Amino acid sequence: MILRQATAADVPQIGQLFYDTITQVNSRDYSLAQVEAWRGGWQNTAGWEEKVAAQHFLVAEAPDGSLSGFGSLCPTTGLLDFLFVSAHCQGQGIARQLVQALLGHATALGLTAVHTEASLTARPFFAHCGFQQVQEQQPIIRGVALTNFRMVKPLAVPPLSTPL
Ligand SMILES: CC(C)(COP(=O)(O)OP(=O)(O)OC[C@H]1O[C@@H](n2cnc3c(N)ncnc32)[C@H](O)[C@@H]1OP(=O)(O)O)[C@@H](O)C(=O)NCCC(=O)NCCS
Repeated sequence: MILRQATAADVPQIGQLFYDTITQVNSRDYSLAQVEAWRGGWQNTAGWEEKVAAQHFLVAEAPDGSLSGFGSLCPTTGLLDFLFVSAHCQGQGIARQLVQALLGHATALGLTAVHTEASLTARPFFAHCGFQQVQEQQPIIRGVALTNFRMVKPLAVPPLSTPL
């Protein structure tokens, strides 16, 4: 498995993985109406291409070329926007590797914190990674309320080099 920068060519697989993971994994924690509302944008090719171009957008690629997961960071706001791992690849450390790479990129950019809107499903994972819950939210997506949690992780600021 390798991590690499996503390209526009990955968008069909990214959308499919998003749809499948919400359907097969998040459905443990959300109702069918919530699942349908959340996954509704999976075929929005232009929307995905925009995210791939604007964000630090990584994919985890299996040796056969299929995608095992993806994650993204908005470099201007520090929002860890997407984090999805295929239903077949859960619990193999893929999200941990994606988050480590995204946090490393955020630190290199000089960001002092990263935040996310964690799903019910992902909240324990983010807590395990050192994110702290700030508040519960009920955003309305396509007319349906979807519970999530704003979580924040402060980043260690590299020490300034001391002039000789
Ligand atoms: C949350 C999610 C990304 C985790 O992906 P994953 O690849 O299975 O997680 P990992 O295998 O990398 O887990 C890393 C660590 O977190 C821990 N962890 C993962 N899920 C956990 C959970 N639900 N509860 C407690 N710990 C958890 C693992 O035990 C592991 O611990 P370790 O580092 O000590 O070995 C995955 O379940 C997912 O895709 N969920 C659905 C999509 C989703 O909700 N995304 C977030 C949208 S905001």
